[in-house]
Amino acid sequence: MSQKILFKNIDEPGLATLDVYRARGGYGDRLRKALSMPKDALVEELKASGLRGRGGAGFSMGTKASFLPKGQMDKYLVCNADESEPGTFKDRELMQKCPHMLIEGMIIAAYAAGANKAFIYIRGEYQQQAEILERAIEEAKAAGLLGDRLMGTDTSLTLWVHRGAGAYICGEETGLLDSLEGKRGNPRLKPPFPANQGLYQGPTLINNVETLATLPHIIEMGASEYAKIGVQNSTGTKLISISGHVMRPGNYEIELGMSSRDIIYGLAGGPGDGRSVKMWFPGGSSSPVLTGDDLDLPYDFDSMAKAGTMLGSGAIIIVDDQTSVVDVALKTAQFYRHESCGKCTPCREGTNWTVKMLERIKSGEATPMDLDLMASVCENIIGHCLCVLGDAMAMPIGSMVKKFRTEFEEYIEMARARAERELMAGLS
Ligand code: NAI
Repeated sequence: MSQKILFKNIDEPGLATLDVYRARGGYGDRLRKALSMPKDALVEELKASGLRGRGGAGFSMGTKASFLPKGQMDKYLVCNADESEPGTFKDRELMQKCPHMLIEGMIIAAYAAGANKAFIYIRGEYQQQAEILERAIEEAKAAGLLGDRLMGTDTSLTLWVHRGAGAYICGEETGLLDSLEGKRGNPRLKPPFPANQGLYQGPTLINNVETLATLPHIIEMGASEYAKIGVQNSTGTKLISISGHVMRPGNYEIELGMSSRDIIYGLAGGPGDGRSVKMWFPGGSSSPVLTGDDLDLPYDFDSMAKAGTMLGSGAIIIVDDQTSVVDVALKTAQFYRHESCGKCTPCREGTNWTVKMLERIKSGEATPMDLDLMASVCENIIGHCLCVLGDAMAMPIGSMVKKFRTEFEEYIEMARARAERELMAGLS
């Protein structure tokens, strides 16, 4: 299971330049082929590939493109390069080492969607990658691959890079659109979905970097060949970022359906030093956690969903047996409290309450009843917010309390005993 598509030549020196990218097959016949297809046929081809969004939600890319209304109107393509999910850093490597793959994918997606204006919304911290993309866009423009009548066809595309300012919420697609329009990045109520009413109220196709970068390969291979890779309902390869307690953290390209154990131990070397996996986030810090008993699960969208979690952005974070679940829960909740935009109450108040309860546990002021309260706060956040940020905290924290309740209870007892000892010492 080692087929490489996106990372095939990724470490080749100079791959970020147009010349080397072209020498590796970039832009040539496959792009000409895509641009000569009727738009509907191209969208059908994308659907047939089974490609599911690589940003986190796993929505069918071709289906999303098919939702854009037909006819003459201003339509937009937006690449979500905000990559703010903790543990996720695969798009960074792709943009840094092979920016033209993303640009080529965007030309194909824009053509399919009937958009002639496109934006790459990149997180502010990725300054180097933004500069690399800018240079690549200039090269592509000079070579007639962007701009008016690109490659001598009737298609035109203008592409801009827009840098964010470091807010997690701007990775949420409607918050991103507000930010791109120059407003504060707050999520909008959905529906309407961006496919109908997105940037400047126009129909907008939004996809993640990896999703878009896959399109040239689908066109080159043909949808049916691409669909043979991976497993049913999770076709193709996936870039994954592994971090936390593993010997070889980093980005890897895997075929979907690979065993999680082979990824965590085989590719990333496991926790090492006689330590074991206590729990792991399979899809970024917003995914419900799994335990060491779940290592033999196939790593694909449906298997993760069946296990009550999600493949998400493909960011696997490993926590070993020497780490306290309370510490991980507190760190996770603090992140989401900080990043909540505050627009809706369940998220703004729920993330704050969860942090406060975890702090009480840490300081020895909590009782086991607080665990029930915390579980109930999490349950009341899920599905009640404007966007998924609240859920992104409630799902992992709720799963930690459920799966590691005994450890939480022991921690509460230990911290209470410690606080009592300190109080007594202070009195004597
Ligand atoms: P979602 O399931 O609401 O939507 C997925 C996509 O399909 C969106 O583009 C949406 O507009 C489109 N869509 C869904 N139903 C539609 C309909 N009926 N008509 C038209 N379009 C439709 O999920 P969302 O909020 O876009 O993403 C959530 C995921 O993002 C989380 O599960 C998390 O894994 C991930 N995430 C990734 C981050 C990263 O850095 N890569 C950061 C934070 C979260």
